[in-house]
Amino acid sequence: MRLRQLRKEQGLGIKVLAQKLKVDHAYISRIESGQVRPSEQILQKLSKALKHEEAELMILADRIPKEWRSAIRKTPEETAHWIGEWLEGYGEQKQDPSEGKGDSAMASQLANPLKAKRKSPNGAATNQLVFSAHSGTNDELFPRILGLYVAPGSIVADVTYGKGVFWKNVPDGLYQVKATDITQGIDCRSLPYEDGLIDCVVLDPPYMHTPGGTAHVGHQNYEGYYRNNANKNGSGKKYHEAVLDLYFGAADEANRVLRENGIFVVKCADEVCANQQRLTHVELINEFICKGFVVEDLFVLKRNNRPGVSRMLKQVHARKNHSYFLVFRKSNGKSRWFGPKKTNAQPPIPGLHQKTPQKV
Ligand SMILES: C[S@@+](CC[C@H](N)C(=O)[O-])C[C@H]1O[C@@H](n2cnc3c(N)ncnc32)[C@H](O)[C@@H]1O
Repeated sequence: MRLRQLRKEQGLGIKVLAQKLKVDHAYISRIESGQVRPSEQILQKLSKALKHEEAELMILADRIPKEWRSAIRKTPEETAHWIGEWLEGYGEQKQDPSEGKGDSAMASQLANPLKAKRKSPNGAATNQLVFSAHSGTNDELFPRILGLYVAPGSIVADVTYGKGVFWKNVPDGLYQVKATDITQGIDCRSLPYEDGLIDCVVLDPPYMHTPGGTAHVGHQNYEGYYRNNANKNGSGKKYHEAVLDLYFGAADEANRVLRENGIFVVKCADEVCANQQRLTHVELINEFICKGFVVEDLFVLKRNNRPGVSRMLKQVHARKNHSYFLVFRKSNGKSRWFGPKKTNAQPPIPGLHQKTPQKV
């Protein structure tokens, strides 16, 4: 159909086209009526004669365009994945008998498949999509991030579990959660797991230094949690540098325990420290990339309530009312992210409560 359409657009009769190609006109007729699949050689000639892109004609003849072949051979898995994803939107349309496409409708869809109507795409409905900015709380956003990046049944090590707020809205038993915290004597920089066994590490250390007095009270109070300014974190660093140091040490350990392509979910917030703007999320991304992670996502969480402000005589920087979830993947640099794979995953066990800190 497409061939007939292109031929007519060029004002060529079957016989004239056949002469140009030095083939029998009956052969062209059989191609147009779908009785024979044209050879690659004929497709090349058709492309020249009709001044039309060879790749499209090749695809319509169920052949792989030759300029694509080496790339496809190099990354067959990715290619299959992407084509599958792309085609998903057309699945239902094919089965819709009410469409009753005539030749011209079909031809125009074939001519421009990207513009084809997506009546009922098979992908997630728009209202179920996960967005990069969220206004609300950790326990609302965290399950959505896990849903996007971690296969059900996976082994997830939350290494700064705290009160387990992140897990409030995660169904019990959906993941094999290994919950640890310094309060149980397990430092996120020295985890009791073997190398490469964990599918996902979650890190949410105190991300703000405490300048003293009442500032940041009610916040992620670093000093209260970790006595960082008292210089007892073993790093010899103070204030914001100590905050970073804990993240960096935890990232090294996450890298060790994660399997290849394992996911590292990191919560952080920027801070102004000694009147200096410290974009913690940028500092972390830069350092983690050097440690063998690739950054896959960045989520902004905006708190709904107004942040408390104490003793502010003159405002010189914007008061922060947002934080981040960063999503990294342990990568050897070659692979790309195509969604979660169930490497260490066990089938989820509904109703099994695994969120309480496991003794590890
Ligand atoms: C911001 S809270 C985590 C809140 C937690 N995500 C939740 O959902 O409840 C920070 C936690 O990090 C823990 N922590 C601080 N330093 C740590 C370390 N070196 N290793 C492990 N946990 C640490 C604290 O005890 C605290 O529970």
